[in-house]
Amino acid sequence: MGNYQEIFDRSIKDPAGFWGEAAGAIDWYKKWDKVLDDSNVPFYRWFTGGELNTCYNAIDRHVERGRADQVAIIYDSPVTNTIQKFTYAELLDMTAGFAGGLRKLGVGKGDTVIIYMPMIPQAVVAMLACARLGAVHSVVFGGFAPHELAIRIDDAKPKVIITASGALEGVRILEYKPMLDRAIELAKHKPQNCVIFQRQFVKAAMHKDRDHDWMTLASASEPAECVPVKATDPLYILYTSGTTGVPKGIVRDNGGHAVALRWSLENIYDTKPGEVFWAASDVGWVVGHSYIVYGPLLTGCTTVIYEGKPVGTPNPGAFWRVISQHGVKALFTAPTAFRAIKREDPVGEHIKKYDLSGFKYLFLAGERLDPDTYHWAHDRLKRPVIDHWWQTETGWPITANSIGIEHFPVKPGSSTKPVPGFDVQILDTEGKVLGPKQEGLVTIKLPLPPGTLPTLWNADERFLQSYINTFPGYYFTADGGYKDEDGYVYVMGRVDDVINVAGHRLSTGEMEEIISTHPDVAECAVIGVGDNLKGQLPVGFAVLKAGAKKSPEEIRTELAKLIRGEIGPIACYKETAVVARLPKTRSGKILRGTMRKIADGEEFKVPSTIDDPAILGEIEEALKGVGYAKQKKDYLVL
Ligand code: COA
Ligand code: AMP
Repeated sequence: MGNYQEIFDRSIKDPAGFWGEAAGAIDWYKKWDKVLDDSNVPFYRWFTGGELNTCYNAIDRHVERGRADQVAIIYDSPVTNTIQKFTYAELLDMTAGFAGGLRKLGVGKGDTVIIYMPMIPQAVVAMLACARLGAVHSVVFGGFAPHELAIRIDDAKPKVIITASGALEGVRILEYKPMLDRAIELAKHKPQNCVIFQRQFVKAAMHKDRDHDWMTLASASEPAECVPVKATDPLYILYTSGTTGVPKGIVRDNGGHAVALRWSLENIYDTKPGEVFWAASDVGWVVGHSYIVYGPLLTGCTTVIYEGKPVGTPNPGAFWRVISQHGVKALFTAPTAFRAIKREDPVGEHIKKYDLSGFKYLFLAGERLDPDTYHWAHDRLKRPVIDHWWQTETGWPITANSIGIEHFPVKPGSSTKPVPGFDVQILDTEGKVLGPKQEGLVTIKLPLPPGTLPTLWNADERFLQSYINTFPGYYFTADGGYKDEDGYVYVMGRVDDVINVAGHRLSTGEMEEIISTHPDVAECAVIGVGDNLKGQLPVGFAVLKAGAKKSPEEIRTELAKLIRGEIGPIACYKETAVVARLPKTRSGKILRGTMRKIADGEEFKVPSTIDDPAILGEIEEALKGVGYAKQKKDYLVL
C-alpha cells in the first residue's frame, strides 16, 4: 500500500523515472538506451534499445527460480467435464515443444501467426510459443464468422494459422475447421500452413498439403529456445471494431507491455506471485490477452482458463464453484456476466453454497457498471467490487480503484481515479479542458504509459486520424464522461459508432455496410439500444428499394441471417424495423443519436437541423413494433 496521489503525480511528472524503476521486475537480455523515446512524437516508444523475450518472462524465469512445480494454468471446462492443471515446468515443455513445431513450419522473428481457438490451454500455449520465437500473434475470437476471420487474414498476412477442431457452446458442437477453410477461401492471402488441435468430440478433416496435426507436429520437433527481441518489436496484433467494416489492428510491443502488466497485477489488482487470478473472459479479447495470459504469467501467478459460461454450465453457481475449488483470490469479468447470474439467482442462493473465504476482490470492466449490478454484487459478496475502465487500445486499465496502492471509497457509477501513467482530461469539442462535473470527451494527455498501443498495424495514418488528430497532444478515447470534484472519473459511453454488446465491442458502421449489400435495402442505419442483460443490442432500420416485394418479417429474418453469417453470432443482431425513411439533418446526416434516445426513452432535443421532425414519430412507432421505445415524446423542434 502507498499513497496514490504521490505515486500518480510522480508517474506524470517523471514517467521515465517511474517506468524505468518498474522495468526492474522484468528480465532483459539488454538494458534499454532510453525509457521514453520521444524522438518521433506523437509516436512515443518505450524502452528503445532494450531486448527481452516475453515468453521467457512469463514461463522460463519462473521455472529457473523456484516455481517449476507451481501450477501455472488451471483448465476448468464444465462443457467437457474436465479439470486439468499444468505446472510452470509442464507449460514450459508444452510451449517450447510447440514453438519447435512452428519453427519447423518456418515461423521466425517478425512473422505473423493467427490463432483462432476456443478457451483451451493450447490457445495460451500457441500465444506463448509465438512470443518465444519473436513471432507476432493475432488471436481472433471464436465467435467471429469466416468473413471476419478472412478480413484479419488479409490484414495480418499470417504465415501459419492455428486452430482447434471445434468448441462446445453449451451442448452445441461448433466446428471451427470448416469456418477456417471457408475464411481461407474468402481471403486473398493464403497461409502456407495450418495447425489443428484435434478435440475428442469433433474431428477436423485435414488438407493434405496444408494442415498439420498439433500433437504430431509438437512431438516430432526439437524444443525451441527463447529468441531475444527488441522492446519495441510487436508481440501481438489484436483487431478491434472501429467505425467502419475494416477493424483496427491494435499493436502491442514486447517491452512496455511486459513492464505495464507486471506492474498492474500488484498495484491495480493487489495480486502477488503464487496467487490465483481468474479473468472469466476469452483469449480472443484484450482482457484475455492481458489478464488470462500475460499479466498473471509474467507475475508468476496461477491463471484459470475457464471454458464455460456464468450461467447454464450448469447453473448460476458456476463462478462460485470455480472460485472456491481453485482458491481464486481475484475474479475479473464483465458486468453482463453478473446480470446473467442475477437474473437466474436473484437472491444469491448459490453464493451461500461455497466457501469463498480466499476470494478477496471482484473486478468488472468491458462496459459501464450500472449501479444496480454494483449493489447486487457488493451486497451479496460483501467484498470490494471494483469497476475499472479500459480499452483494447490501452491494454490495461486507464481508471480504477488501484487497490494495491490505496483503496478509495467506491462511488457507484464511477470507475474511480486515473491509474498512474494515465493523465485523463475531459475536453469540450474545441479541445478546452473542462472542470468538475462538466461532461465532455474523455482524453488522455500524451504520452500514454507503456503497454498501450504504439500505432495500428501497417496504418500509422489511421492511428493519427482515429486517436490523435482530433485533439493534438491527447489520445482521444471516443468515450464521453466527466470527473467529479474528487477526481473520480465517470465514463458514460461511446461517442462514435461503436457499441458494446455483452462486453463485446462491435461496429454499427460495419453492420450498416453489410445490410446495404441486401438487394432490397435502399438505405439503412443501425443503433445500439439499451438491454437489461447485454448492456446494448443492435437494432437496424431499413428503407426498402421501390418495388421490393418482401414482407418486413422476411427482411428481418434475412438481415439477421446475413449479419450472423458475416460477423458471427456474437453480433446478436436480431431486430430490424422496416421504415419508409430515416431521420436526417438537412445536410443528409442520419440522426442515429436521436434514434437511440427514442429507443431508450431518454430526454433529447430535436436537432434544429432536422429535415422533418415528423419522421421521429414514425421511428418511435417502428421501434415499438420491434419491442423498443419506452416513452411517448412530443417531437417539436426546440
Ligand atoms: N464461439 C462461437 N460462438 C460463440 C462464442 C464463441 N466463443 N461465444 C458466444 N458465441 C455465440 C453464442 O452461442 C450465442 O449464439 P446464439 O445466438 O446461437 O445463441 C451468440 O454468440 C451470442 O453470445 P453471447 O452474447 O455470449 O450470449 P449468451 O446468451 O450465450 O451469453 C452471457 C450471455 C452474458 C452469459 C455472456 O455474454 C457472457 O458470459 N458474457 C461475458 C462477457 C465477456 O466475457 N466479455 C469479455 C470482456 S471482459
Ligand atoms: P474494448 O476495447 O472491447 O475493451 O471496449 C472498450 C470500450 O468499452 C470503452 O471505450 C468503453 O466504451 C467501454 N468500457 C470498458 N470498460 C468500461 C467501464 N468500466 N465503464 C464504462 N465503459 C467501459
